[in-house]
Amino acid sequence: MKISVIGCGYLGAVHAAALSSLGHTVTGIDTDPARAAQLAAGSAPFHEPGLEPLLQGGLRDGTLHFTPDPAAAAGADVHFLCVGTPQEKTTRRADLGYLTSAVEDLAAHLRPGSTVVGKSTVPAGTSAILTRLLAGTGADLGWNPEFLRQGTAVSDSLQPDRLVYGVPDGTAGAQVARVLDEVYAPLLHDGVPRLITGLATAELTKSAANAFLALKISYLNGIAELCENAGGDVVHLAQALGLDARIGPRYLQAGAGFGGGCLPKDIRALQAQAEDAGAGSLGRLLALVDTLNTETRHRIHESARQMCGGQLAGRRITVLGAAFKPDTDDIRDSPALDIALRLAGSGAVVTVTDPRAAGQPWFRYPELRFEPETAAALRGAELTVLLTEWAEYLALDPRGVSSLVDRCAVLDGRNALDAAAWRAAGWFHRGIGRGRRA
Ligand code: UGA
Repeated sequence: MKISVIGCGYLGAVHAAALSSLGHTVTGIDTDPARAAQLAAGSAPFHEPGLEPLLQGGLRDGTLHFTPDPAAAAGADVHFLCVGTPQEKTTRRADLGYLTSAVEDLAAHLRPGSTVVGKSTVPAGTSAILTRLLAGTGADLGWNPEFLRQGTAVSDSLQPDRLVYGVPDGTAGAQVARVLDEVYAPLLHDGVPRLITGLATAELTKSAANAFLALKISYLNGIAELCENAGGDVVHLAQALGLDARIGPRYLQAGAGFGGGCLPKDIRALQAQAEDAGAGSLGRLLALVDTLNTETRHRIHESARQMCGGQLAGRRITVLGAAFKPDTDDIRDSPALDIALRLAGSGAVVTVTDPRAAGQPWFRYPELRFEPETAAALRGAELTVLLTEWAEYLALDPRGVSSLVDRCAVLDGRNALDAAAWRAAGWFHRGIGRGRRA
């Protein structure tokens, strides 16, 4: 099929490359000419394992193109909308400005019988707005939310847990479902389950899924606080919970909490939507999830203060990690960076290291010292705080690095280090929610 992908940020770039690898001819369109040129040269504008080989394969085969020209969408059978829906500063609602202007631009290039498919994260009712913008074009609209995670975006796209198609009522809906079945034929052939819903349900599925993941994480962080105060080990407790098939083992890792460009923004947008739509209790629940997440960061700051004898001013602290999670260079709403800045705000002398995120041209924090090499970052530290669980930090030899630091004290803000090994090497190790009577 001939496919256009409008918006080549995280979602669009990965989606375009993945669709070309499924055998389609794909044109990725991004209004930023520099981004379009970089992708057209086979280079990813962000760190994402496995994306560059996929891009380069499609470009080499001639099945993948990138351009800033919106007219390049003309002639495609299917158009995927992958533009961002950032959080409005004052209202916390999703800002649909990029989406509506993308659809207005696209409308001029649509041929009758083509299909427009939304993928961006939006509030319920967005399709109704876009359907009005598409009136008279003869194109149908569907909604196909994307559940990919940064760091595993390629495998999440090519081996998804499920496909969700939101379709309009009647014959148009059947046509949209047929088109999407053709787009995803190889995945359906591999047995990926697909669910057909109404448009509003598909729109909500994405934010409801992200909010549920955030809820799971915040719940465990709340339990971690309880373990810390009342005794108990949240790591063992999470293992016990996770073995219950009704709960499942994933997203139960207590620590510095959630960040990134999606979970925090999406729970706030869903909260605003719930309040607008008269679902106030859900709104209050989501507000609490957000509060718990912020308090988690505060508690780690307090643990660091205690580990420094109650006084942070002048203490040399090394923070391992700046990205909001491993395998990405993304620092949007990063718990690691937020905690590092809080420590610096309390007067600590904070050195941050990260294999990817820190050191980027956009990593400009005058209050933090950046050191690209882990060993150099650790030199002279009075406290080491792990906040992003990159594999290379988990592989550190505690005996080897003990000679670098001034004090062998580590605060494991992700409960990811081998506590016994660090203690055996002479370190004072403290995790999150691992009470004394554990
Ligand atoms: C999230 C969702 O997981 C994807 O399904 C969704 O498609 C995506 O948002 C999106 O809306 O585009 P992502 O933001 O890449 O994906 O990050 P996650 O891997 O979900 O992690 C989010 C945050 O939660 C990270 O800061 C991570 O460290 C934290 N986390 C995760 C925990 O603190 N504990 C856990 O057990 C799991």
